[in-house]
Amino acid sequence: MKCKMRKGSKLALLGGKPVKTGGFPQHNSIGREEKKLVNAVLDSGILSLFQGNNSAEFYGGPFVKRMEQDFANYFGAKHAVSMNSATSALHAAVFAAGAGPGDEVIVPPYTMSATASAVLMQNAVPVFADIKKNNFCIDPESIRERISEKTKAIIVVHLFGMPADMDEIMEIAKQHNLIVIEDAAQAPGATYKGKYCGTIGHIGVLSLNRHKTIQCGEGGVLLTNSDDFALKCQLLRNHGEVVVEGMGVSNRINVLGHNYRMTELQAAVGIAQLKKLGMLNKHRIKLAEYLAKKLACFDAIKTPEIPGNLKPVYYLYPMLFSEEKAGISRELFVNAVNAEGLPLNTGYVKPIYLEPMYQKKSAFAGTQCPFKCAYYNRNVDYSKGICPVTEQLQEKELIFTNICRYPLKKRDIDIFACAIEKVFDNAEKLKKYAEKKNQDTCSLQG
Ligand SMILES: Cc1ncc(COP(=O)(O)O)c(C=O)c1O
Repeated sequence: MKCKMRKGSKLALLGGKPVKTGGFPQHNSIGREEKKLVNAVLDSGILSLFQGNNSAEFYGGPFVKRMEQDFANYFGAKHAVSMNSATSALHAAVFAAGAGPGDEVIVPPYTMSATASAVLMQNAVPVFADIKKNNFCIDPESIRERISEKTKAIIVVHLFGMPADMDEIMEIAKQHNLIVIEDAAQAPGATYKGKYCGTIGHIGVLSLNRHKTIQCGEGGVLLTNSDDFALKCQLLRNHGEVVVEGMGVSNRINVLGHNYRMTELQAAVGIAQLKKLGMLNKHRIKLAEYLAKKLACFDAIKTPEIPGNLKPVYYLYPMLFSEEKAGISRELFVNAVNAEGLPLNTGYVKPIYLEPMYQKKSAFAGTQCPFKCAYYNRNVDYSKGICPVTEQLQEKELIFTNICRYPLKKRDIDIFACAIEKVFDNAEKLKKYAEKKNQDTCSLQG
């Protein structure tokens, strides 16, 4: 589709007609299959079958077990352990990795907060390593710089569905005897050199929350090939400490149990959703590749360059914006595109270490635990500047859209590209508008 908006058309931000009105349909892949399975659960009257004791029900009910088997088969992992969220699964993973008071876990700061708080839940200390601009994921070089005698594990996040540099990371982990946890919450189905993200490290975590490509409202799945890690996570999920003795499991003290159990209803939805993952990802990839072509002519926007041996799944579509080349600020550009009715965001999240809990180094009421715990005799650095690439992306360069998703179509991408073109065509007018606004504010203040 050729963009009909030419240079003359007035920007919506300046009072013109927007390119798109009415927004886009929301992502909803819940259909007959989900309803059928959920009805089967409702008909059975058994909405959960977990029991916190030494019995077959310790591992959940029939739908939970079936969903776990389906995920294990799909991803080619020996074990899939369901949880009530990816946050719970990350906590279980950090626990299984053996991290506790006095230990450090290396994490990227550009991620959803749970990646790092899972470490704090174990009373261990998150140490932030910087990310790379080409894939937005943790930088192996920065990991090397952060390793200390306290490091127990590394959490890799496949952010936006982009696969991280797993070969290098696994090599570092091997050299230093560290456990690698993959937070693949945003990357179900993404592959790195033919292997699914979430199955390359020692433990992988997927999210089934409502924003994700496949969902069951709330939910998470932990993948591992280790019998020991799987059991530890199953224990943490279901009141481990009161169960271990009856199970005859040796050496299992310190299993402080939680209730991280998934219901049969959620599992029923998860079973049906997993069947759609391939189709939904294919849809995202097709639109993302189309969008990359459409945006190739704009110097100020750099779309991701994907090596042939990686398959990202574009949970979000990230881009780098150059204010220098555009001649306008990132904020102004994004505001103008939004005014045209199209989804675009500046930055992703504040680098986690800049959040007050890390700045004040206090995670548990009234104490400086675990940052200044008796077992931890280091002074972890959370000052601004520790991860310059992340800060630069957040403050200046990153823009992203969620337009590459089901049920949107190529023509929606055309409309998106059209709005981008319209804004760039009017960059000079936008600049003048911003200067005038600035002058007006200054004179008001003066
Ligand atoms: C990278 C990442 N990790 C962890 C989580 C936590 O997932 P959940 O909401 O299932 O706990 C999310 C959720 O958005 C996420 O994006």
